[in-house]
Amino acid sequence: MSESSKAGLPDPCAPVWPEVTLPKAWLDDVNMLSRDGFDRFWRRIFSKKKPPAKLPEGMYGADCVPRYALQDFHNLPNGVYSLRLSRGYITGFDISMLGHLERGRGWIANSLGAGNSFLDVGCGGGKTAAAIARSGATDVWGLDPSPYLLKHAAADHPGVRFIQGVVEDLPFCDQRFDGVAACFLFHEVPPRYIQQALQEIARVLKPGGRLVIMEPSAEQYYAGWWPMVRRYGLFGIYFKWLAGFVYEPFINSWHQFDLKQGLSQVGMELVEDEMGMPMRNIVAIKST
Ligand SMILES: C[S@@+](CC[C@H](N)C(=O)[O-])C[C@H]1O[C@@H](n2cnc3c(N)ncnc32)[C@H](O)[C@@H]1O
Repeated sequence: MSESSKAGLPDPCAPVWPEVTLPKAWLDDVNMLSRDGFDRFWRRIFSKKKPPAKLPEGMYGADCVPRYALQDFHNLPNGVYSLRLSRGYITGFDISMLGHLERGRGWIANSLGAGNSFLDVGCGGGKTAAAIARSGATDVWGLDPSPYLLKHAAADHPGVRFIQGVVEDLPFCDQRFDGVAACFLFHEVPPRYIQQALQEIARVLKPGGRLVIMEPSAEQYYAGWWPMVRRYGLFGIYFKWLAGFVYEPFINSWHQFDLKQGLSQVGMELVEDEMGMPMRNIVAIKST
């Protein structure tokens, strides 16, 4: 849809998630301790060749899921499209980041600045949206393609409205939000959609509105082992190992993307871009 066709678009209706029943995926019935479970589940986690994930038949909102999302992101068999792994993923992601994400989510909420209407794109289990709501905003939305994650998010964070969708085609009218948050989303978006995603975010932001992005730092992917040990000790070894182990098909193209230029093309200015460890923190403002 073009920019003008979404002017005046009413807000989407957030589903009543407790009433949405989601089907099992193939791996929800696998006994992980059996021989068959070992072959189908554990081998797939460690294997380099990953067949495409499959949406469970009859899944709610299947039309909202793009094909590129059907991969074993983070080595999870069937990605985040299963009953069993979606909950494990929400908890495991924060544990694997050793507490940095919780602090990072607080940073995102603070950096969004003044306002009451915020959108968390690629919200997953909704923890960033919840951090924004805790800071006092009452009009907070989370958007993600996975209904499995959204159902958990809605159960865990009742003060936020959760809807299915993708960042490159936002179902909101122009200038709807004071701020947009994206926590560990952009490195999962194929390069051909990143500029379109920025365009959509700029469209839904009010003039002066902020886009706050947190992403994995490039350093853990590209620095050698020895510089990582010297700079960060055991912590550096851990994050370098994690970066090499976890399946992220679009990570290199994201790190090569010229964000400053991409933002300026959609009328936004990059005001902060800090390459920390293990995270990169970014703030951009839409021109007034
Ligand atoms: C690494 S997770 C981060 C989840 C959440 N932001 C957090 O910090 O816990 C990336 C999320 O982006 C979602 N995602 C992938 N492609 C997307 C797209 N094109 N638009 C919106 N969300 C997307 C995935 O379903 C997943 O929940």
